[in-house]
Amino acid sequence: MSKRVLTTESGAPVADNQNSATAGVGGPLLLQDQHLLEKLARFNRERIPERVVHARGSGAYGYFEVTDDVTAYTKADFLGEVGKKTELFIRFSTVADSLGGADAVRDPRGFAVKFYTEEGNYDLVGNNTPVFFIKDPIKFPDFIHSQKRDPFTGRQEPDNVWDFWAHAPEATHQVTWLMGDRGIPASYRHMNGYGSHTYQWTNEAGEAFFVKYHFKTNQGVRSLSADQAAELVGSDGNSHQTDLLQSIERGVYPSWTLYVQVMPAAEAAEYRFNPFDLTKVWPHADYPLQRVGRMVLDRNPDNVFAEVEQSAFSPNNFVPGIGPSPDKMLQGRLFAYADAHRYRLGVNHTQLPVNAPKATTAQNYGRDGLMATRNGSRHDKNYEPNSYQGPAQTDAALSAPLAIHGWTGTHAAPQHTKDDDFFQAGELYRLMSEDEKQRLVANIAGGLAQVSRDDVIEKNLAHFAAADADYGKRVEEAVRALRD
Ligand code: HEM
Repeated sequence: MSKRVLTTESGAPVADNQNSATAGVGGPLLLQDQHLLEKLARFNRERIPERVVHARGSGAYGYFEVTDDVTAYTKADFLGEVGKKTELFIRFSTVADSLGGADAVRDPRGFAVKFYTEEGNYDLVGNNTPVFFIKDPIKFPDFIHSQKRDPFTGRQEPDNVWDFWAHAPEATHQVTWLMGDRGIPASYRHMNGYGSHTYQWTNEAGEAFFVKYHFKTNQGVRSLSADQAAELVGSDGNSHQTDLLQSIERGVYPSWTLYVQVMPAAEAAEYRFNPFDLTKVWPHADYPLQRVGRMVLDRNPDNVFAEVEQSAFSPNNFVPGIGPSPDKMLQGRLFAYADAHRYRLGVNHTQLPVNAPKATTAQNYGRDGLMATRNGSRHDKNYEPNSYQGPAQTDAALSAPLAIHGWTGTHAAPQHTKDDDFFQAGELYRLMSEDEKQRLVANIAGGLAQVSRDDVIEKNLAHFAAADADYGKRVEEAVRALRD
């Protein structure tokens, strides 16, 4: 077979890819060597800004199959029929470290799913944790600054990590979760995924429900101890990537079963927990899990940069029948992601193959900008309304309206009868076995004991004690033992 010809970017054949052109043997380079100039200039531009959080991740394609009828709750077409299959792309990630960071670290994991539905792409951008550290998006940049590398030392600093938590009692639930056994998943295949926020589903009749999503791993939940993880990080920093890639290449396709908790909208106001508070779960006894379908991952991307690095998930990519709840964190995220994408990837990132709809086509009057590839034909008008059969609105609301009342202002989240920052953290602690409690306390103490300021330690100890007296006492003793 004859070799394919190497060409420049514009398709002209390259004569020599080993020696750059010089003025005479041993002389200086020639500016006319187009191949050399293009190759070096192109190389200089290979990197794009990494994600400001969740920089390190792995992706895979697969499908979602509906196994149970949920049409009583949502009119979403891709959930409309048992047996219906929808192609999807998922990106798993760690949160705090930069692109080159190791996989087996104590950190939440991102769990971002893009369903390529016939009614447009639906992005469910969740984590492997059912709750989160904060409940107001205005705190997010401060929170992330405290968890990422310190601008002076260039390292993650326990002083910053725990100082933020000292001032965020609402984080106690998620900190308990993160420092517990599930804080370091064995791999992306061995963890659950959660939508975490409450979302709104609307059925054909226009009735509204609030839902929480739970993807349960069919591989079983498996985690690493702090020691196992430290060893793995040393031997294979890419352990999650290795595991996911090789599993799919071998034909061992990971799967998850999707369940939802469903709350009729009318029950939200009186529920004992604020259902729109991201630091709280809904106990299953209140709202049981109802099965929806299963997600299977069966194809690796061919190119990590094109398909994983350039993938873009946005919590405000909804489809008819699914919409936002008034959760303030979610509302903040509805802005943050597409804004990040326009900066990181450019205004036309939705035209990249991994981000573009697959089961339908996008038709609108957005035009131009850097790298436009789908920009309308000679027959398409770039304004609306028009007299030329251009795409027009449907007049059908995607989700049910929400009733609001009161005054504008910088209000704290409403408190329901059982709402405080500590009760659910205490419930989680009390659910743990004695062994789990010991590991939890050791993990917390290992970090907290490194903090230089006593007042920061004291504030954090007070949070654990408020969650459960025994919990607080044990952490205090463990920290003291490490510091003495
Ligand atoms: C107000 C709070 C939050 C803000 C402002 C925020 C903002 C961001 C931003 C700017 C990115 C990078 C997006 C990109 O460049 O593509 C990101 C990524 C991500 N965030 Fe958040 N985030 C917030 C809370 C959360 C929560 C609560 C979750 C999970 C429930 C979450 C899950 C993710 C995931 C999974 C990714 C990575 C998506 C991917 O794989 O491309 N974030 N976030």
